Amino acid sequence: MNIEFVAADAAAAKGSAVAVLVTDPAKLTGPAAALDASAGGAIARSAGVSRFTGAAGQTLEVLAPQGVAADRLVVVGLGPDAVTDQAVETAAAHAYQAVKATGSEVLHLRLDGLSPSAAASAAFGVRLASYRFDRYRTTEKADRKPSVQATRIACDDPAAAKAAYERLSGLADAILFARDLVTEPANILYPESFARRVKELSRLGLEVEILGEKEMEKLGMGSLLGVGQGSVRESQLAVIQWKGAPDPDAQPVAFVGKGVCFDTGGISIKPAEGMEEMVTDMGGAAAVTGTMYALASRKAKVNAVGILGLVENMPDGNAQRPGDVVKSMSGQTIEVINTDAEGRLVLADALWYCQQRFNPKFMIDLATLTGAIVVSLGKDLAGLFSNNDELADNLLAASKATGEPLWRMPLPAQYDKLIESAVADMKNIGPRYGGSITAALFIQKFVNGVPWAHLDIASTAFKPGSTIPTIPSGATGFGVRLLDQLVADSYEG
Ligand code: BES
Ligand code: MN
Ligand code: ZN
Repeated sequence: MNIEFVAADAAAAKGSAVAVLVTDPAKLTGPAAALDASAGGAIARSAGVSRFTGAAGQTLEVLAPQGVAADRLVVVGLGPDAVTDQAVETAAAHAYQAVKATGSEVLHLRLDGLSPSAAASAAFGVRLASYRFDRYRTTEKADRKPSVQATRIACDDPAAAKAAYERLSGLADAILFARDLVTEPANILYPESFARRVKELSRLGLEVEILGEKEMEKLGMGSLLGVGQGSVRESQLAVIQWKGAPDPDAQPVAFVGKGVCFDTGGISIKPAEGMEEMVTDMGGAAAVTGTMYALASRKAKVNAVGILGLVENMPDGNAQRPGDVVKSMSGQTIEVINTDAEGRLVLADALWYCQQRFNPKFMIDLATLTGAIVVSLGKDLAGLFSNNDELADNLLAASKATGEPLWRMPLPAQYDKLIESAVADMKNIGPRYGGSITAALFIQKFVNGVPWAHLDIASTAFKPGSTIPTIPSGATGFGVRLLDQLVADSYEG
């Protein structure tokens, strides 16, 4: 999507759709009133013969109006509340969704009267809304592709809006990068090719190291390696560093991602129906990669570490068996009751490595960890588990600010006994009930006193049929905005 900021009075030519944001169609103001006047009152009349009330998310289309060169006018409801940047972002995304397949080639958004930061947010909303993964389509007919190629944002101070968009543009790139990673099929994106894509991000100033199986064996990462041992693809650990703090030795913040490039379940194999969705089981690693991308692209004044545990969980003659006992890098042993509870086995070693090597200020892990979190919270909320109230509260504040919803879940010590093993220090699953909680309690055993939070994003990483205008159906990039905001608000400087 080509995005331009233009002067408020820039003409909208044939081939464009002009969008205006409206709170109350009975009292048109600003650009909506001006446009209504040029169109001989067509907006007010159309609103009067429709159910358009100006409620947030409503749209109304006026085709080929007299007195206007543009193909169509699109009126977008803003709702009765104060016009925040977030409301403008959402409204702009609705405008894009309403015109993307109409035949118009340019979306001309009239934002005169709004601030430069609102104009930048509109551009951001359109970038997120227009995400599309069409890399493997070769026969798609032109009339099935989006018609809108460019967005022009007409505003009072285009130069200031462009400057404000700079930072959001990098964030959008980061989110879309994460969405691409999640969407890529597992024959293309496997541990080594994922690691290569991460390596390419050194162009942003990130330092990237890749550890292979030999190095991980030396470190004693038997828990992570056990998951990958049934795959012909070599497991990898990616270590990404951003050094942006004024004091180069400042303690870093750390993010750790579950990167199961495909999860068949292993020997505890999953049913065939819906298994293809497990190509998204590296959503945590994608979110961590996107976060590091975002921090680097805006040169955040922070030291940050991103660690990705990249494996493929396959059944095979060499695969790990139910009942196997593995030894983690921490020295603790684990009885693997179910090879499909593999994410926690990957995180166990990735988290331990992270705190041993980096002594971080905090660690946040992200993982598409349990189906049980979807049962608990539904498809809109991610589960937040934490041993530290300050970190949890900072995350909840960032969640509120970005609209990436989190819900705090408990870590009750009395459930620890549910993962006691008869032969090892613990087992990798508990009973059916409370499955996301026992998973989090398992992971906590590999946290050595560091403030830690675990985000179970199995509910939010992938949204087929999404109705959120900034999230087209499919991969969401959930977590990137949230963590970028967390760092900006609470850990920079
Ligand atoms: N990757 C899955 C969890 C998942 C489920 C992610 C649905 C996204 C959508 C995870 O590895 C898994 O298989 N979890 C099991 C755990 C069980 C064996 C204790 C589950 O949730 O069923
Ligand atoms: Mn699994
Ligand atoms: Zn999994």
